[in-house]
Amino acid sequence: MSEKLTMDRAEELLASTTTEDHLFQHALAVSACMGAMARHFGADESYWRAVGYLHDYDFEQFPQEHLKHTAEPLREAGVDEESIHAILAHGYGLCTDTVPESELDKSLYTVDELSGLISATARMHPAGIAELQVSSVKKKFKDKRFAAKIDRAVIQDGCARLGMELPDVIALCIEGMRPFAAELGIGPRQ
Ligand SMILES: [Fe+2]
Repeated sequence: MSEKLTMDRAEELLASTTTEDHLFQHALAVSACMGAMARHFGADESYWRAVGYLHDYDFEQFPQEHLKHTAEPLREAGVDEESIHAILAHGYGLCTDTVPESELDKSLYTVDELSGLISATARMHPAGIAELQVSSVKKKFKDKRFAAKIDRAVIQDGCARLGMELPDVIALCIEGMRPFAAELGIGPRQ
């Protein structure tokens, strides 16, 4: 029987496949954004945070086959199907054909790339994310040369699927990431 994923279990599972600091940092950033999205939807915050934390489970070991080595090992580890579906759907159109269906799926699909853009923008500001404005992130969203690897089309598609405006999702993610500024390396400049 699988149980609803917990943060402790997500941390344990990610640590079994992952060693690189920046990947743990990315996991935490996505997890923090998912917490804010859960609050917005009145969903289970700790559950959404756990799913966010685990979403890149196989990425370090299989960067060229991302999400191809996820469903089976997670199922064997007792992870619930709802989590597995959301994790597979975050790569929709990029490395899977699992369509984001639920609010959980769509949120993860959207904040994965968006959290990276917010972190990169926060690093440009002396106060870090503490005083980061939604408008600054929007400007960087439009500047395609800034953090060029971040796929703006996915973020836009995600917002459309959520039925939300980009600035509202940015605001939620900033709010979600703020308490983790130090761990995310986006606190005030020393
Ligand atoms: Fe990711």
